[in-house]
Amino acid sequence: MRVPTFVEMCREELALCGIVEGSTVAVLSQGHQRSEYVDAFLAAADALGATAFNVNLPHVGGSLDGDVGAWEVGETPLAGNRPAIEALKGVDLVVDTIFLLFSKEQLEIQESGTRVLLCIEPIEHIRAMAPSRRLRERVEAGGELLGNAKELRFTNAAGSDVTYKLGSYPVITQYGYTDTPGRWDHWPSGFLFTGGADDGVDGTVVIAPGDIIFPFKSYVQTPIELTIEQGRIEHIGGTVDADLLREYMASFKDPDAYGIAHIGWGMLETAQWSILATDRRGMGMHGRSFYGNVLFSTGPNGELGGPNETLCHVDVPMRNCTLYLDDEPIVVDGDIVVDVLKADDVPARA
Ligand SMILES: [Fe+2]
Repeated sequence: MRVPTFVEMCREELALCGIVEGSTVAVLSQGHQRSEYVDAFLAAADALGATAFNVNLPHVGGSLDGDVGAWEVGETPLAGNRPAIEALKGVDLVVDTIFLLFSKEQLEIQESGTRVLLCIEPIEHIRAMAPSRRLRERVEAGGELLGNAKELRFTNAAGSDVTYKLGSYPVITQYGYTDTPGRWDHWPSGFLFTGGADDGVDGTVVIAPGDIIFPFKSYVQTPIELTIEQGRIEHIGGTVDADLLREYMASFKDPDAYGIAHIGWGMLETAQWSILATDRRGMGMHGRSFYGNVLFSTGPNGELGGPNETLCHVDVPMRNCTLYLDDEPIVVDGDIVVDVLKADDVPARA
């Protein structure tokens, strides 16, 4: 079978995003970065009969997406550029090839009713993890369960047992496209999350060998034990991997780095846990999305509407966890056990 070109993939993606004749699309970029993405989206939008243009900003830095260097989220080249922000607020869909996530500018654009699609991953990753309406149904079914729960708890054989009080923050779904006004999504992705109350996360998280730490983009080799009290990491115990995480977090010189960010689970059966063994490109949507992970994270909760705006954000997709919502098991030993959430083709376990 012929592999679709990136323009064809973008056309299918924009169609899923509800782009039709007469829609308006802005593609946001900086410098010469990802110029082939800009060209492909503009061509795809044109093929669908949409009115499209490129908002190109001066190149500020390469660390926004975590591909190189420290991952410092939340500060973007769009900050203070009022005409560009207004142009983006005026269209139906902004395709973001920079990484606006966690920024005030993105929230303002969304509040205007404009939907935002992030697209920065390597094209091969995007191709491997194609979104579908079926994925959306499953992720939204998970969102309903998560949104109705008062408490989330997860455990693993390494010793994790942590409880989140829910209800303070909304549920965010990610299924890789967006046709809903004001909604953000990331192509490709397949998971969902919410946040615990600011002082309502307590227990122990033991990050086990094989679990992934972003932005390190590596597999943990030695257990890391995090003691969490009232939504703060109070202690980081372990050996070499704990030392790495402790020093990384301390480098931000920010007490908010020890906050607890989002919590949820991965649902995308085409995402590959093992990808980092051979391919460390991109910001890691394979790792964050793989089927049955529990995605634990630390740092900011501004994207959920919370007060923590630290630049230190760590995402930890964990394998083989058991996750309960109000004592009902959702994921058991890394496998999704609720029928409406299960993939049609459940992937073989590593
Ligand atoms: Fe995250």
